[in-house]
Amino acid sequence: MLNMAHSSAAMTARFSQLPPLALYIHVPWCVKKCPYCDFNSHVHKGNLPIADYVDALKQDLDQDLEHVQGRKLSSIFFGGGTPSLMPATAVAEILDFARQSIGFEPDIEISLEANPGTTEYDSFSALAQAGVNRLSIGIQSFNDKQLQGLGRIHSSEEARRAVTNAQAAGFNNINLDLMYALPEQSLAEALDDLEQAMSLGCSHQSWYQLTIEPNTEFYSRPPRLPTEGRQWEIQEAGLALLETSGFERYEVSAFCRAGRPSRHNLNYWQFGDYLGIGAGAHAKISHFDRVLRFHKTRLPTDYLARKAGPTAKFVAQTHTIDEHNLLIDFMMNALRLRKGVASELLEQRTGIKPFTHSRIFSDLRERGLLKADPDILCCSDQGYNFLDSILQAFLED
Ligand SMILES: C[S@@+](CC[C@H](N)C(=O)[O-])C[C@H]1O[C@@H](n2cnc3c(N)ncnc32)[C@H](O)[C@@H]1O
Ligand code: SF4
Repeated sequence: MLNMAHSSAAMTARFSQLPPLALYIHVPWCVKKCPYCDFNSHVHKGNLPIADYVDALKQDLDQDLEHVQGRKLSSIFFGGGTPSLMPATAVAEILDFARQSIGFEPDIEISLEANPGTTEYDSFSALAQAGVNRLSIGIQSFNDKQLQGLGRIHSSEEARRAVTNAQAAGFNNINLDLMYALPEQSLAEALDDLEQAMSLGCSHQSWYQLTIEPNTEFYSRPPRLPTEGRQWEIQEAGLALLETSGFERYEVSAFCRAGRPSRHNLNYWQFGDYLGIGAGAHAKISHFDRVLRFHKTRLPTDYLARKAGPTAKFVAQTHTIDEHNLLIDFMMNALRLRKGVASELLEQRTGIKPFTHSRIFSDLRERGLLKADPDILCCSDQGYNFLDSILQAFLED
């Protein structure tokens, strides 16, 4: 994992134009904690304090308005945790507040993560009414035995029903999350998951290799994962299947049918700006002379407690990103994109002049890890398999 410590020294980045602005909204509760999950998600006993949380989110956004600097929102993402535990009325209230206080680009993308087992047809309809125009449905697998082992609260049948209900409610921009290299998974089982997902006719597929994260139940009691050889086999066959089925791999784990990438995630990878509200949410914001990262207080109870005090702030920590870390952060995001980015985006988004770091770029090009074309920053086919080594080179530069 990269060490993302940032210096607090101010830098002299110069932007002729600020990047597009997105908004992430974190909903930190789940019905049950999955044994592989290290996200900021918590089981809450009793009724969720939705009204209090919505009030806190609005207050939190209000405190961030100084960072908007005249921009409108190009995308919004409700992530979790399990945002589909929030009633659509609460989603509508937050969206209305964001529209009034910041404003929306006319073609704004508004996504919400929905878990099977927490949504019905009516709630999908109400979410569409509230303004949500994209769903990301967490399926993980269509194999009931795997779903049980992953601690999911839904069956494969409920997962399929969630997708067809969402489609019937009018959603035509839907992502499905699947994971692979699951405990004792065979190649045939992994491919069957992908085939079942694609048969549902959605526009976007996320396909993540299961990782065992510290502070999870799987870390303290590791399941039997497929061998490295089997993991490689699954990955190669899965990538081929996705491609022949018309899904373009536009990022390491993200695949889409023509013209339907996740605009919110593209903004992260293209080093756009984003505000983050809700427990533990992160933000990256450019000002004309510096780039800031900050995050909100992490635990839901602490976050809600901040709301009580009239002068209390939700921000837990703010850093100005120094030039070395700006370059690393930018490259770490941009090189995840299969087609990379235009070279000029580096200066546009970080203020760093390309010639300042020409040695590392020419070195990586000579080693065949970056494409030779100087107009793009993009991994070669070989380099894409060694992304970690490329990023290590930037860390050591
Ligand atoms: C924010 S998470 C959870 C979204 C939603 N609560 C759910 O569980 O469906 C988004 C996605 O990350 C993936 N994910 C979570 N933990 C993972 C892990 N340890 N390894 C690989 N993928 C993981 C899952 O596919 C999950 O749907
Ligand atoms: S439902 Fe999603 S966010 Fe919640 S614990 Fe499971 S994987 Fe994590």
